[in-house]
Amino acid sequence: MSTVAVVVPIYQARPSEIEQFSLRHSLAQLKPGRTVLFKPIVQALQAEPINVYGDGTQPRSFCYADDLIDGVMSLMDSDKDLTGPINIGNPGEVTMVELAEKKLRMTQFKSKLVFMPLLQDDPRSRQPDIAEAQSKLGCPPRYRWKTVCAKPSPTPAKHSIPTEAHHRNHTMELKSIDTLHRTKTGKTSDKWASYLTYYDELFAPLRHKPISLLEIGVQNGGSQETWAEYFKEAQLFVGCDIDPKCEALRYNDPRIKIIVGDANAAPAFQKITALSTSFDIVIDDGSHTSHDILRSFINYFPLLKPGGTFVIEDSCCLYMDGYGGGLLNEQSAYAFFKRLIDVVNFQFWRNDISINNYLRTYFDLRSTPQFILDGWIDSIEFRNSIITIKKAVTPTHDKLGERIIVGTDAQVQTWGGKLPGAVA
Ligand SMILES: C[S@@+](CC[C@H](N)C(=O)[O-])C[C@H]1O[C@@H](n2cnc3c(N)ncnc32)[C@H](O)[C@@H]1O
Repeated sequence: MSTVAVVVPIYQARPSEIEQFSLRHSLAQLKPGRTVLFKPIVQALQAEPINVYGDGTQPRSFCYADDLIDGVMSLMDSDKDLTGPINIGNPGEVTMVELAEKKLRMTQFKSKLVFMPLLQDDPRSRQPDIAEAQSKLGCPPRYRWKTVCAKPSPTPAKHSIPTEAHHRNHTMELKSIDTLHRTKTGKTSDKWASYLTYYDELFAPLRHKPISLLEIGVQNGGSQETWAEYFKEAQLFVGCDIDPKCEALRYNDPRIKIIVGDANAAPAFQKITALSTSFDIVIDDGSHTSHDILRSFINYFPLLKPGGTFVIEDSCCLYMDGYGGGLLNEQSAYAFFKRLIDVVNFQFWRNDISINNYLRTYFDLRSTPQFILDGWIDSIEFRNSIITIKKAVTPTHDKLGERIIVGTDAQVQTWGGKLPGAVA
């Protein structure tokens, strides 16, 4: 298990005041937007400009969370005559501009530094004097700023008894969707085993992102809780179900919203879009009929953010007549998505026929959705009973990109002595 790489400012504590002052205070300080450390991290992760005040040369000192805990534990173990106050912290200094550049590097320079006027009450220095902690508690900080940034998982803290932080880390262990679903209690959820392992792979890159997710068809409502458990940083989970009994679904997690109605009828669509007009993930686990699947795709794919993911569950139903399907049924939603693969490769047949003409079985000539014509379909994956359609980051039909041949030694395919792309 890795230690959470959190650094906190200095704390001054008396043994009797540890809880009120040191620990609670530190948790309050960790909220994004309140510290020199966290606000720029959030800005860097979101590729927003990072504010640096003044010329950024003012130094700050940060103490690694494990060192703070070591200090507090040592203080609790110390002689009762030691009354303090005692500074616990790390005297190592880093300038604000160094800190900002570090974040830029760690987030691959997606942000820019923006220099702002120096704040009036911005202290020039906040270096703690920890001489007393060193001499009386014998706990110099173990982690230096540079080591912490370079090495996210330092060795365990010196105290062998489980600290609250260890306990927190333990209980925060990340569970897979597969485990969350299989161990779920309360509201039921209905998924096939292969979906769970697939979702773990498909959604892993989004796990820590502030995503929003729409699920069409929630039934007993349990899947919404599984998503909420899995995507801890998510902002919104919208579940829509046509069954009026879903009105009674209640959740402790305020991020979960349930809309009752036919997902493809105007009232429910308006309620969903009133909550959000853009989603990272849309899962259609509704009626599984050809008609509804096509309608959901046409209505909700445009709401996906660029790079977003549209999943159709239980596409096995599309082999069944009762769902408007059938193996050789050219009108089924399955046949449509198979044709959509050709649209992903449109650049290779664009001179032969228009997309409108190619899809005329499903749309009359003028009603092919614009997002298909514009090249927003990036990829389609067919698995047993799941179809996944990814939205392009930018719409294009020239998806292949340039041919890139590297090296200068071409002994087998010589291209007539001239490497393709070589400048004459
Ligand atoms: C397979 S269940 C959903 C299971 C749920 N996603 C889960 O993981 O436990 C299908 C649900 O879709 C709902 N449904 C059917 N047609 C719908 C529509 N047009 N709009 C919204 N929900 C619909 C049904 O009422 C039913 O509750």
